[in-house]
Amino acid sequence: MSTLLEVSGVSVSFDGFKAINNLTFQIGEAEMRAVIGPNGAGKTTFMDIVTGKTRPDEGRVLWGEKSQSLLSMSESQIAQAGVGRKFQRPTVFEDQTVAENLMLALKKKRSPFAVLNFRASRADRERVEELAGEIGLVAALGRKAGELSHGQKQWLEIGMLLAQGPRLLLVDEPAAGMTPAERELTTEILVEAAKTRAVVVVEHDMEFVRRLDCKVTVLHEGSVLAEGSIDHVTSNEAVIEVYLGR
Ligand SMILES: Nc1ncnc2c1ncn2[C@@H]1O[C@H](COP(=O)(O)OP(=O)(O)O)[C@@H](O)[C@H]1O
Ligand SMILES: [Mg+2]
Repeated sequence: MSTLLEVSGVSVSFDGFKAINNLTFQIGEAEMRAVIGPNGAGKTTFMDIVTGKTRPDEGRVLWGEKSQSLLSMSESQIAQAGVGRKFQRPTVFEDQTVAENLMLALKKKRSPFAVLNFRASRADRERVEELAGEIGLVAALGRKAGELSHGQKQWLEIGMLLAQGPRLLLVDEPAAGMTPAERELTTEILVEAAKTRAVVVVEHDMEFVRRLDCKVTVLHEGSVLAEGSIDHVTSNEAVIEVYLGR
């Protein structure tokens, strides 16, 4: 598997506190990766660094086959390069239907400035239906996003990110506030998405992580504490002590 994202020796401090401390790891092309660790371990900050929201004090963040540095790029340039990010709180347009939300995301991909003149082609409408299928919302295409359940809104937002065709999708605690059934469908959506792009999922629900069936990176105090299969990391003494044992 070739490397898509390479983080090496990255550190960042906030008011003298090292939130990320010499962090090094790689994500492969079309790899699914789970990131776990106690609160304050630096999981969200790691995503902030990759997306350009936070600038590290040192280290490298390299992207793609040309090993382009993401650190010299703006947040929108990084998004344009193919990094999509899902935040914990869904940011869908509540007064628009599911189909309209997905169509808006397709438009945005084409050009953030051409939205007003945009006219949906037949191919666009087909792509919207296809996306709805990928996120389990075909039956809800005509419904206002505001009427959806919390889980459905999360899926819609994932669909809106997929509409923009990211090569890497970063997802922070997607299962929070979901019912067990919604959690299962979320796993399926992410596993399917990771067949054609890299997906990095931060999640506390260990059953959820187990179902992702992927390599797991454990962060602690801003560094990698352990990495490997779920069975490997959950039997690691240090991981049990700082994370699982509590
Ligand atoms: N913008 C910021 N300013 C100050 N401190 C921050 C900021 N972002 C994160 N931190 C601190 O960095 C540490 C790591 O936070 P975070 O990345 O949110 O952890 P996690 O997502 O693993 O729970 C925490 O101690 C947090 O308080
Ligand atoms: Mg966090």
